[in-house]
Amino acid sequence: MSQRIKIKALLESEQTGIDIKINGWVRAFRQNRFIALNDGSTNNNIQIVVDFENTDPNLLKRITVGAAISVTGELIASLGKGQKVEIVAKDIEILGDCDPEKYPLQLKNRPSLEFLREIAHLRFRTNTFGAIFRVRNSLAFAVHQFFQERGFIYLHTPIITASDAEGAGETFHVTNFDLANPPKTESGEIDFSQDFFAKATNLTVSGQLEGELGAMALSDIYTFGPTFRAENSNTTRHLAEFWMIEPEVAFNDLNDNMDLAEDMLKYVIKYALDKNAEDIEFLTQRLTEEEKQKPQNERSEMSLLEKLQFCLDNDFERLTYTEAIDILKESTPNKKKKFQYPVEGWGTDLQSEHERYLVEKHFKKPVILTDYPKEIKAFYMRQNEPDANGRETVRAMDILFPGIGEIVGGSQREERLEKLEQRMDEMGIPKDELWWYLDTRRFGACPHAGFGLGFERLVLFVTGMGNIRDVIPFPRYPKNAEF
Ligand code: 4AD
Ligand code: MG
Repeated sequence: MSQRIKIKALLESEQTGIDIKINGWVRAFRQNRFIALNDGSTNNNIQIVVDFENTDPNLLKRITVGAAISVTGELIASLGKGQKVEIVAKDIEILGDCDPEKYPLQLKNRPSLEFLREIAHLRFRTNTFGAIFRVRNSLAFAVHQFFQERGFIYLHTPIITASDAEGAGETFHVTNFDLANPPKTESGEIDFSQDFFAKATNLTVSGQLEGELGAMALSDIYTFGPTFRAENSNTTRHLAEFWMIEPEVAFNDLNDNMDLAEDMLKYVIKYALDKNAEDIEFLTQRLTEEEKQKPQNERSEMSLLEKLQFCLDNDFERLTYTEAIDILKESTPNKKKKFQYPVEGWGTDLQSEHERYLVEKHFKKPVILTDYPKEIKAFYMRQNEPDANGRETVRAMDILFPGIGEIVGGSQREERLEKLEQRMDEMGIPKDELWWYLDTRRFGACPHAGFGLGFERLVLFVTGMGNIRDVIPFPRYPKNAEF
């Protein structure tokens, strides 16, 4: 297998007349003569021409869709149209048969995304999922490159922790107990002091709190790892296991934080556009086709490619929560009672219908909302002075994207010990358990800020897919942990 050339390199090569070896999976075999072979390096297949009159019929029978084969042959300038080069086979070896009677992935009748989710172990073999996972790979690499170019330290924060960073109580427990018979305390509660870690632990919902500890010495850090939420949200935007990128920067305020987030998003989108032009072109066509099924007024005005370019070319709109509420109150859908949740007063959280109105209808571009009411945000956000009406807000920011809603959530952090402790008391966050977090406010505290980017929401945006379950290889969501 040593000298195999990948199909992507082959299709770009100008050098014909040489003998080469390629391996891959059969996508199609027409007229006992033309094999379309794919190895995942590109969406394009290489055509292999088989001299069927001089080939063993038993071998021909085994060249079926899905079979893994190895081909040695001569690379020639293609006689047909659609490709520059093709291969005239000299030797074909079947590496792995694929019984067409049993193979569930018959690409003839385009399988639905729902069906492909049930055979997620095989869906990598379709053009759509090949493109998605190559784009996902590029985005992940670009995230690292962006931060590394700027001198950030990649910090690995723990997956198992005893804290609920967001204080939302949506954690998955981690325990070694025999669930049928856990040790109990005298008062009848489960006695976690006897558990593996001698305390109750869970999978992390965010690496932020530990990230802040790192930033208080290393200045600029980022995490990029899996996070877990046991929220029972059966939506196209939520996963129970998702990847999050969380930078945390000492000496940054909220404006610096917004600049960093906007720069990062533009950088990684640009990287994917350059690196994965063919895949994004393919996904753009896929989306356009899909949208043809929708009524005219529900189709997007821009193609996927145009949307991505538009996002690069325009400044994100920045405004406060209070300004957004005023816009929403006066909006046509609110006045005509078209919102499921009418916008009446100040202080309630925005629903995704409101976020989408702001982004897709009102501003028609990405939006950064800041300074949310403190009651609807986490304990660690920096408290603003009450405004003239006595309204209390925090230095929060959410970035909202078209078709996605919230893609980034972040804030300037409360670095003043008294303010932080007071807020933790008000919200019932146990201070003794977070002694280490509070220590950073005791020893050389400084202003700092950070945010979390939901990686799958980014991949959703860049691939134009409609369901977050289709942009992670093996999605975890309520009632599903297959594969
Ligand atoms: O807004 P969230 O909850 O913020 C935090 O976790 C902060 N600790 C981040 C920080 O300041 N360091 O989550 C951040 C982002 C959201 O904006 C969203 O993109 C994504 O994570 N997200 C999810 N993505 C998929 N499935 C879920 N269940 C998600 N929950 C949040
Ligand atoms: Mg959030």
